[in-house]
Amino acid sequence: MLINNDTIIKDTDPVLRTVSEPVELPLSEEDRALLTDMMQYVIDSTDEEKAEKYNLRPAVGISAIQLGIPKQLTAVAIEEINKNNETVSYKFALANPKIVSFSKQKAYLDSGEGCLSVENEHEGYVVRSARVTVRGYDMLTDRNIEIRARGYLAIVLQHELDHFKGVLFYDHINKDEPYKEVPDALVI
Ligand code: CO
Repeated sequence: MLINNDTIIKDTDPVLRTVSEPVELPLSEEDRALLTDMMQYVIDSTDEEKAEKYNLRPAVGISAIQLGIPKQLTAVAIEEINKNNETVSYKFALANPKIVSFSKQKAYLDSGEGCLSVENEHEGYVVRSARVTVRGYDMLTDRNIEIRARGYLAIVLQHELDHFKGVLFYDHINKDEPYKEVPDALVI
């Protein structure tokens, strides 16, 4: 399926608020093709030349509802610098992922969050859990996996899984005090 900045559903469309349903496993050919295209979008979107040529907005994740398809499918690809100053990359093409545990400690991105479906600025801290454990089927490894995510990866997974519930990042911003300090939070 063609995925670019014109075909991605924006938050002006109420379909984005739809709750997504689990898919059948093993994946159908149709779902496999969709998730493959979503993964390819995320990877290509951070390649400057391809992004320019194919009208892709840079992203670290995309969920099926952003293409108008209410299925629990999401693709995530991020790069992080670890404690030893090495670049670590994480790639997941997930079906039916679920968060099975959340840390009490909170975390947020200092610069706020963005979303392929959101064109307007929404300033403020998007406060989430600092660590989450996610279980689901990963198409890239063809396995049921458990991801123990912390920091940036944990934030990205929570952002994407929120899309399954029709929730957008700015729903989490404190309306009265968007930059309210959070005690003991991990600031990324
Ligand atoms: Co999003």
